[in-house]
Amino acid sequence: MDILITGGTGLLGRALCSALLANGHRLTVLSRRPEKVSSLCGEGVRALRSLDEWWPEMPFDAIINLAGAPIIDLPWSETRKQTLWRSRVGLTQQLVAAIERARHKPGVLLSGSAIGYYGDCGDATCSDAIYSNPSAQDFGARLCAAWETAALAAETAGTRVCLLRTGLVLTPHGGLLARLRLPFSLGLGGRLGGGQQWMSWIQIEDWVGAVLHLLDTTSARGPYNLTAPQALRNADFTAELGAILQRPTLLPAPAFVLKLLLGQRAYLLLGGQRVLPDRLIETGYHFRHPEIRGALRSRL
Ligand SMILES: NC(=O)c1ccc[n+]([C@@H]2O[C@H](COP(=O)([O-])OP(=O)(O)OC[C@H]3O[C@@H](n4cnc5c(N)ncnc54)[C@H](OP(=O)(O)O)[C@@H]3O)[C@@H](O)[C@H]2O)c1
Repeated sequence: MDILITGGTGLLGRALCSALLANGHRLTVLSRRPEKVSSLCGEGVRALRSLDEWWPEMPFDAIINLAGAPIIDLPWSETRKQTLWRSRVGLTQQLVAAIERARHKPGVLLSGSAIGYYGDCGDATCSDAIYSNPSAQDFGARLCAAWETAALAAETAGTRVCLLRTGLVLTPHGGLLARLRLPFSLGLGGRLGGGQQWMSWIQIEDWVGAVLHLLDTTSARGPYNLTAPQALRNADFTAELGAILQRPTLLPAPAFVLKLLLGQRAYLLLGGQRVLPDRLIETGYHFRHPEIRGALRSRL
């Protein structure tokens, strides 16, 4: 297939590009850094600097939309919130407009989202059979909902749309584990706040596997939770990680300290979602790493 990827240079995008190339697909990556695309995404990967370079006669069979400014790195000032919004919702709207203009309409759009869609769910389980969650009104939930709505507009052009409600992706190359490794190695790892909040994670091989599966499963459309079937409370996740790294996990990070340090972003760590990948499993996807212990031991 000829596939256009946004965010292909990112943590998840690079892992995905490598798997798509191994499966014989031809890739084009939309990037603000086109000169970096072949070194980051693979030799022979074509780069587009802007969607204006996507001519109507340029055929793509599929689009995978992962671009977005990093959520947790910087404080959520009004300007930062605009950047987070524009880089996801704005870009997705432009992408759908380009799909509408294209002579050869892509068969499928796999578009990014996150389990933050559900807001802080306490102990309730979040199934992807839920299409809307009006009670989740925090910024992250509103951002995910608007990002999904923008992507779903491609259905009117006849393009199948799958929404990738991604959980905490476990990979040695960045994200959550890379951030936790240093404090844990120094014996400073510990639960966050009360530790009772749920963490829904997915090992990177399963994230890539699930995206490839949704690409090929022509009956799949709508939201899919990309999380392992075993969500954990933060305290249990912390204990498992400490055991694998053979380090103590006795020093909790108190909620008020996280709030002081992170402001509004603290709820990303202190709140949580107990997410189940019901619809993904229904499509016949089999997890390689359904349980945390095996996932953490697997090359992470
Ligand atoms: N990693 C996770 O655990 C996780 C969990 C849930 C959801 N997600 C979502 O999945 C997507 C991919 O995640 P990731 O971890 O691979 O992210 P990442 O490493 O931060 O990469 C995202 C990509 O988005 C592009 N980007 C960054 N800032 C941008 C901006 N201001 N405007 C336009 N494009 C921008 C960049 O591509 P260029 O520099 O090439 O333009 C970058 O490579 C993200 O949208 C993220 O929110 C990730």
